[in-house]
Amino acid sequence: PTPAVTAGDIRARKGGDPVVSLTCYTTPMARLMDEHCDFVLVGDSVGMVLHGLSSTLGVTMEMMILHAQAVARGLSHALMVVDMPFGSYEQGPQQAFANAARIMAETGAGAVKLEGGRRMAETIAFLVARGIPVMGHVGLTPQSVNALGGYKVQGRSDQAGVVRADARAVADAGAFAVVLEKMPAALANRITAEIAIPTIGIGASAGCDGQVLVVDDMLGLFDVFKPKFVKRYADLAEQAREAIADYAAEVRARRFPGPEHVFAEQTEKGAK
Ligand code: KIV
Ligand code: NA
Repeated sequence: PTPAVTAGDIRARKGGDPVVSLTCYTTPMARLMDEHCDFVLVGDSVGMVLHGLSSTLGVTMEMMILHAQAVARGLSHALMVVDMPFGSYEQGPQQAFANAARIMAETGAGAVKLEGGRRMAETIAFLVARGIPVMGHVGLTPQSVNALGGYKVQGRSDQAGVVRADARAVADAGAFAVVLEKMPAALANRITAEIAIPTIGIGASAGCDGQVLVVDDMLGLFDVFKPKFVKRYADLAEQAREAIADYAAEVRARRFPGPEHVFAEQTEKGAK
């Protein structure tokens, strides 16, 4: 069995083989990802993907902890990174530490992720100095959707410097990696070249040090809408729809259960 991945291992991948990651919310998916992913992210996207929320703003500490506990049970190799939900860290370093410590202690996470660049630098340094590895997240930060005015591409034209400064601040504060979300590929490449920690792209560039996708998006399970940056590697929603329709038809026709699914009154010899 391959040894468990640490935040330090991810940090050491700068400029090396691309870091592979997906979001993960449940034990069975964690089992499927464990051998293929370097880290899995228990993202606050869980609120939209599994709980039907219209943004990530309603996600709570309790939701994150419950899902992270489930994911941890399915992992023996990949690092588990857990998102800090909206409202659990923005007040300041003390609040962030209290909630990050709770996530680490109650779930066995190896790191937390939080959104924001320069404005979060002090908080990131505070957590790192106290033993909590932090992944940053800049560019499109969905918890700020109301301030950003939608899920738009960030850092175009004269705004590129803002995103670069945010990524640099996160790296300088001691984060072990940073997610770059939804920005021009050239900007993601430039940031990747100028900061010392791995960049993990989503809607960014193949030149990033690693990639992440929302698992339900890439499996075609979440098919309410598809962002441009998502590649569908399967169409599981369509397969599930067909399976459910087949089941419903067979039940209505009394074709399910069949003889092989029911029990005899007497146990036959050798049968269970
Ligand atoms: O919550 C999430 O899924 C994320 C990734 C998209 C990076 O933060
Ligand atoms: Na997130």
